[in-house]
Amino acid sequence: VSRVANGSVAEAQGVRRGSRLRQRQRLIDACISALHIHGPSSTTVEKVVAIAGMSPGIVRFYFDSKAAMMVASLQFLAAEFEEQLLVPVAALRAEPVRALELLVDLYLGPEIASPRKVSVWYAFWGEANSRQEYFDICGQKDERFAALVRDLIGRLVVERATRHLDADAIALGLIGVLEVLWQDFAFQNELNIDRAAARRRTMSYLRSVFPGAFPERARIEAPPPAVAQAPGLPALAYQNEELRRRELALYAGATSCLGFLAELERPGSFLSGEALGTRVLVINTGNDLLALENRCGHRAHALVSARRGELGRTLRCPVHGLEYRADGTAVEAALPPLARFSVASDGGLVLIGPAGVAVPQLAPPGFAAPRLVGPASERTVEANWKLLAEQWLECAFDEQARSQLAGLCLPGRLALAADGRASLTAPLAATGRGFSAALYLARVRGEWLRVFLPPRQLIDFRPDGATVLTLEPQAAQRTRVVVRHASADGEAHAAAYLARRLYRRWLLEDAEVAEAAQRELAAGRRPSEAPPAAAVATLQDRIRPLLAGLEQGLR
Ligand code: FES
Repeated sequence: VSRVANGSVAEAQGVRRGSRLRQRQRLIDACISALHIHGPSSTTVEKVVAIAGMSPGIVRFYFDSKAAMMVASLQFLAAEFEEQLLVPVAALRAEPVRALELLVDLYLGPEIASPRKVSVWYAFWGEANSRQEYFDICGQKDERFAALVRDLIGRLVVERATRHLDADAIALGLIGVLEVLWQDFAFQNELNIDRAAARRRTMSYLRSVFPGAFPERARIEAPPPAVAQAPGLPALAYQNEELRRRELALYAGATSCLGFLAELERPGSFLSGEALGTRVLVINTGNDLLALENRCGHRAHALVSARRGELGRTLRCPVHGLEYRADGTAVEAALPPLARFSVASDGGLVLIGPAGVAVPQLAPPGFAAPRLVGPASERTVEANWKLLAEQWLECAFDEQARSQLAGLCLPGRLALAADGRASLTAPLAATGRGFSAALYLARVRGEWLRVFLPPRQLIDFRPDGATVLTLEPQAAQRTRVVVRHASADGEAHAAAYLARRLYRRWLLEDAEVAEAAQRELAAGRRPSEAPPAAAVATLQDRIRPLLAGLEQGLR
């Protein structure tokens, strides 16, 4: 009996410890995101907990101060760099060609070199002069990396009998190439980074120094018919990096919601974000909204990096200082004007579409959501974005009776458009399952309209307000979900806060299901053989042509 009892205590302690570690890690992840968005000096504990979706008081349990949290975040990045790059590459020391190939793959890969992480490394380096801990951690990481590169190049010089070459100088050249590519990543968004091209450029450098040592990578062609015959998508569609890059084509022509009108209320205010496969900037001109590409014509850097703010008289590129007027024309240089896109305010949502194409109306007639409900929240899910999108489409947009928005709604009317847009209109029920749902339904009556905006957004229009969920693929098997809420005025604002709570719970459940499905795929189990719901099939039909020529494991 006592063994069992002890076991339970030990188990409970283990669970508590695990949950503490997870909470701490969540704060570190949020701190890295905050540093990426705001920079070290403007990152505050409030901003970090807002991103983490946790209460401010909880930070004290894990970190003595903001400074300690920042150092822990930097230590996390350094440990990750060590484990994911230095250790595996050093293990291949005896085979310098393979080791250098792996080093290039990992150094430029999405895990270590995401724009978020790279920009945070540079932010810490920028402050290293005044903070000894930053200097020590950043310096150690760079030194260990440089030592490994020098060692591998030295071995290769010996192996290839090219002793006339200066190993130190070649290593410095390789580090320089990688460094320049990282700097470029820091100013890009994930959608615009061409990692395959970055790898090719680095390998070209190595090939030019060691002719014949690094063979070109062979591409293995998979027979397309096998893909076409599958009822759903094959497992590789949820695991393959190259496919994720190809999927960017889906964004280029897709209408999407950038945020809420409440985020750019005053004339001269702007809102920035990703849409149409690029960075976009929407400006409130006083009379209208104007959507421009947020990309300097000189070197393609972002003109503004904040999500929202106020424009000065002109838009000044932070890199070399070229200026643009608020209408997108360059002040002096012979640069082309910034590209324009279609933009519309629809019920308080800011919708962006390709230039020259009218933005469709999504909100029900008379709908308005003029007030923001709290800051945006983010959750990172260790699963491919399509697993989450398919789950949304299966649960809400199935023709069957499951279309009841987690018990809040009665069965509704489903409409599928040829472009993959799906909408479900459902009346709210009288009572709901669970405390928050019951409280919410006690306040809100009417209909709920849920719209899936392909390929990656879900927009809910409720009597109390609107919620926009956006899937941001970070890697083939990692997705960030960003959730934004706005409310109708008056009484509805309180109900919208309740709805916000419901979304948090749904999202947690969605994340668990998607992560479990991803683990199944990683373990070699096949995705469901059952024919998908019509809305899911529409999404999958757009992915299938992108699979041609891909083979499991090709990255
Ligand atoms: S990149 Fe904008 S001015 Fe040079």
